[in-house]
Amino acid sequence: MKLPSRFQYVTESILKPLTARLRSVKETITETTEPRPVHDLWTAERLKAFAAAHFQNRRLIVVSNREPYTHTKERGARRVSTPPSGLVTALDPILRATSGLWVAHGSGNADRETADAEGKLMVPPEHHCYTLKRVWLTKEEEAGYYYGFSNETLWPLCHLTHNRPFFLERDWLAYQQVNRKFADAIVAECGEDRPLVLVQDYHFTLLPQMIREQRPDAVIGLFWHIPWPTVEIFQICPWKEAILLGMLGADFLGFHLQSYANNFLTTVNQMLPVRIDWDRSATLHEHGTTLAKPFPISIQPWSERGVPSETELQERALAYRKELELGEERLVVSVDRLDYTKGIPERLQAIDRFLEKYPHYVGKVRFIQLGAPSRIHIPRYRDLVMQIERLTDEVNWKHGTADWKPVLLLKAQHDPMAVYGFLHMADVCIVSPLHDGMNLVAKEYVAARESNEGALILSAFTGVAREFQEALLINPYDSQGFAEAIRQALEMPPEEQQRRLARMKAHVAEYNVYRWAADLLNEIARAAEAIHQAPAAATS
Ligand code: F6P
Repeated sequence: MKLPSRFQYVTESILKPLTARLRSVKETITETTEPRPVHDLWTAERLKAFAAAHFQNRRLIVVSNREPYTHTKERGARRVSTPPSGLVTALDPILRATSGLWVAHGSGNADRETADAEGKLMVPPEHHCYTLKRVWLTKEEEAGYYYGFSNETLWPLCHLTHNRPFFLERDWLAYQQVNRKFADAIVAECGEDRPLVLVQDYHFTLLPQMIREQRPDAVIGLFWHIPWPTVEIFQICPWKEAILLGMLGADFLGFHLQSYANNFLTTVNQMLPVRIDWDRSATLHEHGTTLAKPFPISIQPWSERGVPSETELQERALAYRKELELGEERLVVSVDRLDYTKGIPERLQAIDRFLEKYPHYVGKVRFIQLGAPSRIHIPRYRDLVMQIERLTDEVNWKHGTADWKPVLLLKAQHDPMAVYGFLHMADVCIVSPLHDGMNLVAKEYVAARESNEGALILSAFTGVAREFQEALLINPYDSQGFAEAIRQALEMPPEEQQRRLARMKAHVAEYNVYRWAADLLNEIARAAEAIHQAPAAATS
């Protein structure tokens, strides 16, 4: 029986989304209260075997804006570096394990001279495992697509930080043009077999549909590394329909959390003539079905990354302490890209409040901020750096003494081993974004604590907070509560530190990046099987 449209509206727009939300709450409760023993470990080898079994050595093509290895040249000296990117940290081990192809923007000034005529080279540099194909962009394309539409439109649109997005027609045109360029580069690599393509992030919302037009047989997934906002927020984007249609070219969309997937489904439900199957978390549209599911991203175990021995670490720690003129102070460390979503000014305000309230900590604790400059051609990112420097200076001037300053700002792109060294030394780690899809630094810290001692202060507005209920959860806007958490972290008894860390460590060990990858690959395999079935009925 066909329901009258009012009932249909109530069912489709209120009851079913509500059911999905309740399910998401239930999943969160289960996730955070059940014990998490390490019983089913995913490793690089297991992932490799899994990929071989499911794809019979068909090549996985991964696409992202950021490349995993960048070649730069300064005063004639060439160097290769890995960017400060959670996405790169997570995907590199997967490509290593599956020997696939990674397509990305070649952004380094020595990238062309280190690639062949097709923009290809084997990476990692020290141990060739997979192919990187670099796509070249003009300055104008990079300005409009990356600095403009990706990072001045979609980034502020999806992060709740009260920074408004800009909607410029010329950026939108460049974004379309670059998505098209990537689509052509990918299709050229697809070969005869049904290609398997895993698109990364908000830089490429149009790519799934563009690839699908040329290769209807492709299996396409898109993983969204940032939050998906509520429909009330997303609807202000003038090109919302085109973006959603572009994404629906994929067989499945991955988000960190069920709640982001729900926001996405609610958004398409209200904006496009599609039908939502809330039970399957799926959008049924005229070209088929697109699933929207949670896949919380994670990290590669530190033990696989050539970390120094305990003795070496002790030596390094002594060297750092000497170089940075640290005494015996307790260390509180933060590691971030210098981005306004990371809440660094709010963190400095909380440090100020903490030292005002607890002056006996003067000279006894040092706050070290590792900050990697990011997106520096965007004025608000440049302004943020100046704001952070000014606030650091103010806090240091206000609370500092002749031979001690509370905050040490180390503004540079630190390599992973330096980050590990600092996380290893940190008595406390602060991860306090205003909003963050996941945040892998929190997972990196927990995993780096070999002794099981240390405390994590974590913003409740990060995806990782769902998994880390044992952290000291804070509201980064509440400097009073934040300051209290700093005190609590510094005064936490060792047994409590161990109890909390042990649970979080066990969780990260089990839910590592290989499990994340396996879940995604499994979804690709399922989509590949479903592809021959008749497309689901389209809609109202
Ligand atoms: O995690 C979100 C993200 O935008 C990734 O896509 C990206 O690699 C990272 O942040 C760093 O940003 P960018 O690549 O713009 O330097």
